[in-house]
Amino acid sequence: MDKVKVGIIGVGNMGSGHINFVKNIPQAELVAICDIDQAKADEKVQVAGNGCRAFYSTDDLFAAKCVDMVIIAVPHYFHTPIAIEAFRNGIHVLCEKPIAVTKSDAQKMIDEHAKHPELRFGLMFQQRTLEAHRKIKKLIEGGEFGRILRVNWTVTDWFRSQSYYDSGSWRATWGGEGGGVLLNQCPHHLDLFQWFFGLPVKVRSTVSIGKYHDIEVEDDVNTYCEFADGSTGNFITSTGEFPGTNRLEISGTRGRMVFEEGVIKFRRTEEDVNEFCRTTPESFPSMTTWDIEIPYKKDVGQPHQNVTEAFVKAVLDPKAKLVAEGWEGIRSVEFGNAMLYSGLNKVEVPIPMDTAKYDAMLQDLIKNSRFKKKEAKKSVVDMNNSF
Ligand SMILES: NC(=O)c1ccc[n+]([C@@H]2O[C@H](COP(=O)([O-])OP(=O)(O)OC[C@H]3O[C@@H](n4cnc5c(N)ncnc54)[C@H](O)[C@@H]3O)[C@@H](O)[C@H]2O)c1
Repeated sequence: MDKVKVGIIGVGNMGSGHINFVKNIPQAELVAICDIDQAKADEKVQVAGNGCRAFYSTDDLFAAKCVDMVIIAVPHYFHTPIAIEAFRNGIHVLCEKPIAVTKSDAQKMIDEHAKHPELRFGLMFQQRTLEAHRKIKKLIEGGEFGRILRVNWTVTDWFRSQSYYDSGSWRATWGGEGGGVLLNQCPHHLDLFQWFFGLPVKVRSTVSIGKYHDIEVEDDVNTYCEFADGSTGNFITSTGEFPGTNRLEISGTRGRMVFEEGVIKFRRTEEDVNEFCRTTPESFPSMTTWDIEIPYKKDVGQPHQNVTEAFVKAVLDPKAKLVAEGWEGIRSVEFGNAMLYSGLNKVEVPIPMDTAKYDAMLQDLIKNSRFKKKEAKKSVVDMNNSF
């Protein structure tokens, strides 16, 4: 195979963007677009051009055997059944974030993929390709900050209007979307958080439901977490603040790093802080520090396209690396699920978490939903019928 035949499933906001990204990749050929909204599928094949075919159901798409890989860009609940069917049909899967709504659904996808090791399974975590994030990860892994004592990440620059939430009947409902800011806006940061620091072993959250919007899911979250080595973290997110903040602070035994507004600043201590604390004879000491602005490379290309291009290359060359492997996606979902469970039940949640309890809670939320919308009901019915 010298060109990978690509199908895009779901051509709404994100899937429409993928059309041009795929068209820009020399080793890829966009051959199919699938959307249950027939008019949308028909319209987008015109944009795709070059004989790209329209499909109105994934069953028809898979039966046509015309694609090597699919990009799944549909509402979250459908990620699981569609990815599983794709694997069963011998198709490589690049799935939009989040991998799934729940940890248990993510596990089903990972288990099915394990039965087809010849297929690639990747996730659209394009923020991992940003040079600033790659640099921070490299500095953490290289021990530049010493032993990490505490991390704080405030990500409140995800402002969304009521009109945004009203724009799709699946949005911001338990049945249609499965959650709010933790499931839709934040998966990138939940992924980066675990990519940088690993998963904590317990979380305690406060979660506000519809604090800023007329929605039934969370739009404001404040989480405290603890890691196995005793270090701690805070993760704050909201879709109700403007302009909001995106500020990551890492306190380590060699100083404090702050990443904000695209600038990585590091105030480095002359000595290891723990060592200094134990050995200095002074009661109110201070230590020499110096400020560094850490340089990093300029980003090249479009981030989503970079992820897809790496995926296409990995389909052609099984040794090539993906930006994010499918199995990694379960971590950010578990992190978000644990936060939501903790906040709604006012309990501390250990990680690994109890998935059965989470699934039962979600089913209750769906049952008691005040938004009985057609699309929302359909998602859950489909999900329950399939698995
Ligand atoms: N990586 C990113 O930066 C990013 C950004 C936005 C959205 N997303 C993700 O993309 C996905 C879609 O979000 P969106 O904002 O584009 O939603 P959207 O509502 O704009 O589009 C979803 C499309 O999927 C279609 N669809 C629904 N069920 C389907 C099915 N079973 N089979 C085929 N088509 C189906 C709908 O008709 C619609 O056209 C979500 O998972 C979201 O989290 C990712």
